[in-house]
Amino acid sequence: MESLLTDRVAVVTGGASGIGREIATTFATHGASVVIADIQAAPREDGTPTHEVIERETSAEAVFVECDVTNRGDLEAAADAAENLGGLDVMVNNAGIVGPVAPIQDVDWAAYEQLRSINLDGVFTSCQVATERMIEAGNGGSIINMSSVAGLVGYANITPYNLAKGGIRLLTYGLAAELGAHDIRVNAIHPGIIETEMTRTDFPVVGGEDEADTLEGIPLARFGRPEDVANVATFLASDLAAYVTAESIVVDGGQVRTA
Ligand code: NAI
Repeated sequence: MESLLTDRVAVVTGGASGIGREIATTFATHGASVVIADIQAAPREDGTPTHEVIERETSAEAVFVECDVTNRGDLEAAADAAENLGGLDVMVNNAGIVGPVAPIQDVDWAAYEQLRSINLDGVFTSCQVATERMIEAGNGGSIINMSSVAGLVGYANITPYNLAKGGIRLLTYGLAAELGAHDIRVNAIHPGIIETEMTRTDFPVVGGEDEADTLEGIPLARFGRPEDVANVATFLASDLAAYVTAESIVVDGGQVRTA
C-alpha cells in the first residue's frame, strides 16, 4: 500500500532513544527505510534497539550506524548507509544533550564546547553532508532540525542550550533560502517538555518537584509524548509538506505562546 513515506530513506541522528526513536519507528510505519545514527544502539530508556523494533514490527528496512555527530566521518558513514538503502531523502538532525545547567559565570568551558559541538556544530556538519548528497542525487529532500522552545525564548541557567537551539533556528532559515532551488526543504521543530530520559533524568522536569506548577503553564495540561513530535516530523518529511520550508513548528501544548 502506498504510504506517506513509501520509497523514502531517512537518517535519524539520536535515533536510539526518546524523540529520535519515535521518529524512526513512525517513519518506518509510514514506509520509509531508516538509518539510526547514534553513539549507542541501546535506548537510554531501556528496551530493544530501534532498528530491531522496526525490523520486527514493520516491513521497512532499518540499520544502525554508530555515529557521533561531532565526527564528520561518522556522519558520512550514516549517509553512505542511506545510499545503500536507495539514497538519502530525509535527514533528521535530532541528536542533542542538555549540557551545563548553571549561571553563565559557572559554565565550564569544556562542557560548553561539548554542548556546542553536539547540539550546534553537529547539526551544521550533518546539514553539509546531507545537502551534498541530496544536491548530487537531484531528487530534492527534506531536512528536519530539532530545535526546542529554548530556541525561541530565553531560559535562565541553560544559556549554552539556548544558544545552540536558537542557532539551529537561523541555520534552518538560511539553508532553506539556499536550497529551495534544489527542492530541498529545511524546517525546524521546537518541542516543549517531552517525556524522555532528557526530561526525566538530565533536566528533571517530569516527576520533579515543580511538576504541578509547570503543568499549569501548559494549556493542553500534559507533558508531550515522543509521538507528538514524531507526527510533526512525519508531516515535514512527507509530500504533505511539499510547500513548507523555512518553518518553525512549535510542539509544546501551547506553553510558550500563552501566559
Ligand atoms: P534523549 O536523551 O532521550 O535521546 C538523545 C539521543 O541522542 C540518545 O540516543 C543519545 O545516545 C543520542 N546522542 C547524544 N549525543 C550524541 C552524539 N554526539 N552523536 C549521536 N547521538 C548522540 O533526548 P530526547 O529528549 O529524545 O531529545 C532529542 C532532541 O530533542 C534533542 O536535540 C533535544 O535537545 C531536543 N528536545 C528535547 C526536548 C524534551 O523535552 N525531551 C525538548 C526540546 C528539544
